[in-house]
Amino acid sequence: MNNIEKTFRTGILGVGKYLPERRLTNADLEKMIDTTDEWIVTRTGIKERRIARDDEAASDMAVKAAQVALKNAGLEAKDIELIIVATITPDMFFPSTACQLQYKLGITGVPAFDISVACSGYVYGLAIADQFIKSGLYKYALVVASEKLSTVTDWDDRSTCVLFGDGSGAAVLGRVDDGGIMAVSLGADGSKGNLLQLPAGGSRMPASKKTVEDKQHTIKMEGNVLFKHAVKIMAEAALDVTAKLGLKGEDIDIIIPHQANIRILNALAQRMGVDPDKKVYLNIYKYGNMSAASSAVALTEAVEEGRIKKGDTILMDAFGGGLTWGALVIKW
Ligand code: UT7
Repeated sequence: MNNIEKTFRTGILGVGKYLPERRLTNADLEKMIDTTDEWIVTRTGIKERRIARDDEAASDMAVKAAQVALKNAGLEAKDIELIIVATITPDMFFPSTACQLQYKLGITGVPAFDISVACSGYVYGLAIADQFIKSGLYKYALVVASEKLSTVTDWDDRSTCVLFGDGSGAAVLGRVDDGGIMAVSLGADGSKGNLLQLPAGGSRMPASKKTVEDKQHTIKMEGNVLFKHAVKIMAEAALDVTAKLGLKGEDIDIIIPHQANIRILNALAQRMGVDPDKKVYLNIYKYGNMSAASSAVALTEAVEEGRIKKGDTILMDAFGGGLTWGALVIKW
């Protein structure tokens, strides 16, 4: 029988991460802008974030995370049949960071492409790879989220520069006999794209001396309005995906959310009826918001720390620019 006629289950076979060494603490930021450690911690939950070296681009971080994920999956790069990279800070417009990653992994031929879904990119990437594996078209896929947000941060804008960090997380997906990705819920609302954007450098506002002078190549965010959408939409996505399986908050062993703000995650826990200290994985305090890489690194660290065990039911939940959102239930 042709594999394409059969459906398979998709599991995560291995995860990995890479975080740049350099730490930028709230104390460092106090010397750069008009802010305080107290404001940043109470409003966001962030204590420090990582900043990549000048010579480290998204694909350089991606390859390091991918190699760890491959090792943990017990596979080699040549086994991978599909590469997806989620990033809003690609090495360059094109070729894609996924193609750069493929090259750095020393393989050729297999399909490789980037997705631009902002903070929801890792969840979207897992959901896309799931379809290819489920259908039988590919056996193994690599999904990497890699972000160097420090390059698109306005370091004079205190309302945004305290939030972001750099990093990368990866997953190798493949067929499993039971469990794996059980349900997916994805969505977007382009009408609210103006709430979080990087205006210049595209065909709408090509790069010019003026766009550079006006700092139009940096992230512009209406944090306050976005916050309200994040609270509402992350809860809706979580409730939608769990409802597909008839699950309630108590059935979830751990929530792995996008890490934008600790207050958003506490609100999510409340809506799901779970104890945030026990059931919501948190690493925002050490990395800040790494866009798509946040949930990728969070999943990796939850596995590394033994917070996820075989048979556990995991809820991944992300929200970001676009607007975009995505939630997954995975039986580990
Ligand atoms: O990852 C994708 C999705 N991202 C999100 O969902 C982010 C959602 N938004 C947020 O997390 C929050 O809105 C922020 C953390 C960005 C901001 O927190 P907030 O509680 O919404 O603060 P705000 O923007 O309403 O600002 C409150 C005050 C303002 O002062 P005034 O006008 O009340 O005098 C700001 O100027 O805090 C001031 N402020 C700061 N003060 C010290 C803003 N940034 C800072 C700062 N340090 N870094």
